Amino acid sequence: MIKTRLTEMFGVETPLVMGGMTGVGYAPLVAAVANAGALGFITAHHSKSAEELWDEIKRCRELTDKPFGVNLTLLPSLNPIPYDEYRQAIIESGIKIVETAGRAPVDHLPAFKAAGVKVIHKCTSVRHSVSAVKHGVDVISIDGFECAGHPGEDDVGLVVLLPATVDAVSPIPVIASGGMADGRSLAAALMLGADGVNMGTRFMATQECAIHENVKRKIVENTERDTLLTNRTLRNTSRVARNAVSEEVVKIQQDPTKTIEDVRHLVAGVRGRTNVMGQGDTDGGIWTVGQAQGLIHDIPTVAEMVRAVTRQAEEMLNVRARSLVG
Ligand SMILES: Cc1cc2nc3c(=O)[nH]c(=O)nc-3n(C[C@H](O)[C@H](O)[C@H](O)COP(=O)(O)O)c2cc1C
Repeated sequence: MIKTRLTEMFGVETPLVMGGMTGVGYAPLVAAVANAGALGFITAHHSKSAEELWDEIKRCRELTDKPFGVNLTLLPSLNPIPYDEYRQAIIESGIKIVETAGRAPVDHLPAFKAAGVKVIHKCTSVRHSVSAVKHGVDVISIDGFECAGHPGEDDVGLVVLLPATVDAVSPIPVIASGGMADGRSLAAALMLGADGVNMGTRFMATQECAIHENVKRKIVENTERDTLLTNRTLRNTSRVARNAVSEEVVKIQQDPTKTIEDVRHLVAGVRGRTNVMGQGDTDGGIWTVGQAQGLIHDIPTVAEMVRAVTRQAEEMLNVRARSLVG
């Protein structure tokens, strides 16, 4: 058993988090994560309305009585997003843990605080962590350059970014995110000062994840080199799977005068969700994945994976760490 401030604060059994994942973080997966003793987040983003988010929360409660949260991603989007309505749905449905990402949740914090909702803010730099803490977030989740999705524009790997963040925001607890895939990651992150780890890519390759089997198999097959960074020139960098579509986007964006309009048809989230996640054509659109795929070799159940990660971390801390210091 690994006890940290994260397990204490959120009443979970192991310091392992599954962050919000658009097109992936639906109720059955989040409930499986909760039932396995970890902390999962429903992703508000892919609900078309606050009512749909309400239904998703309800669906998750029917599948677990353990704690889970909702992710609110505050990023520029091709389509407008009803953030205030989502916030209301989160509060009124009694959710007590929120993961925010993108810009600092300044305008949402007073309402969350008043409702006793704890906010984990996920960001990609020390300076943004410090600023979010000043605004009053409860926990920082720091995403290194390895991560799936939005690694920011600084390109700092987690081995430096994590302890730098821990030092800068102490005593606020920090979650290590990006490139975390097994018990070695968890043990190492704890040694670097984290109170837990956040994983996205690892949870995609699990039985309960409702994406097409081809995508899970592709994650197992891919190495750590099989991701690409798109939208760098737009300062909205995304780490995605290397495939026919992402290679085309990167090629177009070698010309810095190109705008989102030049790639909109290629990068549209709905295209990736339909063709790739839904139909299993892994070259059919953009899909998000991290360098951690190079460490993923199986497609276990969520419970098996969470248990294996926890046990391996315990062994690392009990056996390897002790043997090294004699
Ligand atoms: C398919 C996919 C979709 C994601 N969508 C979101 C999202 O909507 N909001 C968010 O905050 N993070 C999103 N993420 C990032 C994860 O929550 C997490 O921070 C990241 O995956 C950690 O890096 P890792 O994949 O190396 O574990 C997504 C990740 C993946 C793999």
